[in-house]
Amino acid sequence: MKLRLAKVGLVAVLVGLLAQTAVRGVAHSDLFGCNGCHTPHNADALPGVPLWNGLETQTTFTMYSSDSFQGTIDGQPSGNSRLCLGCHDGANPDFAWMNPEHAFGADDLTSSHPVSFVYDSGLAVLDGALKDPSEASTLGATIAEDLLDGESKLQCASCHDIHSSGIGDSLLRGYDYGNGHGPQLCRMCHLK
Ligand code: HEC
Ligand code: HEC
Ligand code: HEC
Ligand code: HEC
Repeated sequence: MKLRLAKVGLVAVLVGLLAQTAVRGVAHSDLFGCNGCHTPHNADALPGVPLWNGLETQTTFTMYSSDSFQGTIDGQPSGNSRLCLGCHDGANPDFAWMNPEHAFGADDLTSSHPVSFVYDSGLAVLDGALKDPSEASTLGATIAEDLLDGESKLQCASCHDIHSSGIGDSLLRGYDYGNGHGPQLCRMCHLK
C-alpha cells in the first residue's frame, strides 16, 4: 500500500504544481495516468472498479439520510465512490493542496446527492418519480448500463466520468449542470 501511494504521490505533487484552475475539465486519466486508480498486477478487489490499485480513504463517513429518501444505503461508501474518496476526503496528504470545496470530510456526504445504494425497478416504483433503470439514459444505452455500476448502484461515477474531460468544468456525464443545461443531467433519472 505504501509503495502504491508513493507512486501516485509523485504525480500528485506534479499536478499540485499546476494552478488549480489549470486542472479544471482535464480528464483524471491525463492528470494521474491510469495507475492513479488501476494497477496491472496484484490488484485489490472493489466491485465496479476493475484492477483497483487499492487507494483507500481513512475517513469514516456519515452517509446520506432523509425522511423522503427510500433507498438502502451502504454503511460506508462502496464501489467507485470509495475510490474517489481515497483522494477527495481532504485527508490524503498527497492532495493537501486540493481546493477544500472539492474535498469531502466525514460529514459532507450528508449534504450531497446520495451515493452507494441500489437503484432498481423496485426503488423507481416506490419513489414514483424516477425512471425505471431499464429506460434510455439519453447517453446511448439504458440508465443501468450508462449510469449505474455492475451492482446496479448509483455512485460518484453515475454523474461524473473521470476517463474523459466530460461536459463543462466538472467532468459531468452528458450535460453541464452549471451552464443552463442543468435539468437534463438530473432528468436522465428523475421525472421532475
Ligand atoms: C488519484 C486521486 C484522485 C482520484 C482517485 C479521484 N480524484 Fe477527482 N480530483 C483529484 C484532484 C487532485 C483534483 C483537482 C482538485 C482541485 O483542483 O482542487 C480532482 C478534481 C476533481 C473534480 C473537479 C474537476 C474539474 O475539472 O474541476 C471532479 C468533479 C472530480 N475530481 C471527481 C472525481 C470522481 C467522481 C472520482 C471517482 C470516480 C475522482 N474524482 C477520483 C484527485 C482524484
Ligand atoms: C480517477 C480514477 C481512474 C483513473 C485515473 C483511470 N480509471 Fe479506469 N476506471 C475507473 C473507474 C471508477 C472505473 C469503473 C467505472 C467507470 O467505468 O466509470 C474504471 C473502469 C475502467 C475500465 C473498464 C470499464 C470500461 O470502461 O471499459 C477500463 C478498461 C479502464 N478503466 C481503463 C483505464 C485506463 C486505460 C486508464 C488510463 C488511461 C484509466 N482507466 C484511468 C477509474 C479510473
Ligand atoms: C447526482 C449527480 C452527482 C453525484 C452522484 C455526484 N456528483 Fe459531484 N457534482 C455533480 C454536479 C452537477 C457538479 C457541478 C455542480 C456543483 O458544483 O454543484 C458536481 C461537482 C463536483 C465537484 C466539484 C467540481 C467543480 O468543478 O466545482 C467534485 C470534486 C465532485 N462533484 C465530486 C464528487 C464525488 C467524489 C462524488 C461521490 C462521493 C460525487 N461528486 C457525486 C453531480 C454529482
Ligand atoms: C443516475 C440517476 C440519477 C441522477 C443522474 C440524479 N439522480 Fe437524484 N436520485 C436518484 C435516485 C435513485 C434517488 C433516490 C430516490 C429516493 O429514494 O427517493 C435520488 C434522490 C434524489 C433526491 C431526493 C433525496 C431525498 O432525500 O429524498 C433529490 C432531491 C435528487 N435526487 C436530486 C437530483 C438532482 C438535482 C440531480 C441532478 C444534479 C440528480 N438528482 C441526478 C437518481 C439520480
